[in-house]
Amino acid sequence: MPDFVGAIDQGTTSTRFMIFDHGGNEIAIHQLEHKQILPQAGWVEHNPTEIWERTRAVVETGLNGANLVASDLAALGITNQRETTVVWNRVTGRPYYNAIVWQDTRTDRIASALDRDGRGDVIRHKAGLPPATYFSGGKIQWILENVDGVRQAAEAGEAIFGNTDSWLLWNLTGGTDGGVHVTDPTNASRTMLMDLETLEWDDELLSFFGIPRQMLPSIQPSSHPGLYGMTRKIGPLKGEVALSGDLGDQQAATVGQVCFEVGEAKNTYGTGNFLLLNTGTELVRSKHGLLTTVCYRFGESAPVYALEGSIAVTGSAVQWLRDQLGIISGAEQSETLARHAEDNGGVYFVPAFSGLFAPYWRSDARGAIVGLSRFNNNAHIARATLEAICYQSRDVVEAMRQDSGVSLDVLRVDGGVTANELCMQIQADVLGVPVSKPVVAETTALGAAYAAGLAVGFWKSTDELKQNWLEGRRWQPEWSDEQRATGYAGWKKAVTRTLDWVD
Ligand code: G3P
Repeated sequence: MPDFVGAIDQGTTSTRFMIFDHGGNEIAIHQLEHKQILPQAGWVEHNPTEIWERTRAVVETGLNGANLVASDLAALGITNQRETTVVWNRVTGRPYYNAIVWQDTRTDRIASALDRDGRGDVIRHKAGLPPATYFSGGKIQWILENVDGVRQAAEAGEAIFGNTDSWLLWNLTGGTDGGVHVTDPTNASRTMLMDLETLEWDDELLSFFGIPRQMLPSIQPSSHPGLYGMTRKIGPLKGEVALSGDLGDQQAATVGQVCFEVGEAKNTYGTGNFLLLNTGTELVRSKHGLLTTVCYRFGESAPVYALEGSIAVTGSAVQWLRDQLGIISGAEQSETLARHAEDNGGVYFVPAFSGLFAPYWRSDARGAIVGLSRFNNNAHIARATLEAICYQSRDVVEAMRQDSGVSLDVLRVDGGVTANELCMQIQADVLGVPVSKPVVAETTALGAAYAAGLAVGFWKSTDELKQNWLEGRRWQPEWSDEQRATGYAGWKKAVTRTLDWVD
């Protein structure tokens, strides 16, 4: 058995390739950003061809940099930004349109129409999702209705859909020369098209969006001993490696954080925040604004489900301070600047740039900075931005407690923003529970590697993976209960000021 497992993490802003050893340690990492295409307000696109080129480049450079070759890898896992929608021609290999990104809100009319005639409730029940612009179904419908020739090609079986996992798996296994068209249940559970109980595409859901079934990839286990396929010798790995793991990125981070027991949760701090709570083989339907989603399905065993709180804007609010307001020149300065303020000085920032996701699901909300007085300065705005990341997470934790009855005794965290010590301290203060970060914080790629490695026997069991998890840092709550209650009440009031903004 080779000594390493590889993982490709195709994210919203960049694509990275990582190699791990048996202990789950990072052996190599290479990452490249791709362009964010913003054709008009509310629209966000990526170029799928650029994403494939970046993937090729990171894999080649990552392997070369580590002096490794394909035969050093026991398996390769894929993880990806979820919901982002690619439709391409299986004969020419060319995308019909740019990828429509999960943050894109062009399908708001499609989404709101679903709730006018009862279809929304069917989607809630079968797919576990509230009708929203976030998910793939409406994005596929938009492409079918707005891009010339796609509908006919889809009916003829030539135009096919995938999230970026499927797009990469198809390309890695040969593309027009026999590429496989597959996905896994975690990705499929983000489309509004899959029945959560059967883990099959559902004809009634497909009919809501007018999507021909033949467009869709086959749904195979997230850790797949039967393999999705082998990488092609002519591809970036220059050799054959078993493709045996595929997980949406937030589910991958849950696996990388070894949250295998019911009641274990992790929060990933990226462009947005995504808090997932393992609910085991029980499908818990949210009554408080969370999503029910597939956490993973390993081989033929029963699927494990999760409740998810998805928050659209967290790390990207810090980017906004840098790119739009210009009050910091790098993300790390958000911490230095915020430390100039003792507290938020009465200021709350609700970064509802794409409306509000969980637990509110209000596409009519828009961002607001409230509570300003002449006394306030940039430091208060920076502090309010970090607090917004933490208060949005508290909203989700409250919803989770109400839905599942589980109160967290510790929150496992990962993702870029966890490098911000002040933000993590505020998170512990706002929640009133300790916040814990593992030594290997690249849990998303690690989770994909785990799924791939379990499938081929590189790791024997999830118990073995648990031994790899080591705490690197812990933040203890320091606020009094009163401080916590007052702070949160201010946040809730600020949220009400952002609603009903768009007609
Ligand atoms: O649901 C969207 C999520 O999968 C995106 O994650 O880390 O690529 O921003 P990230």
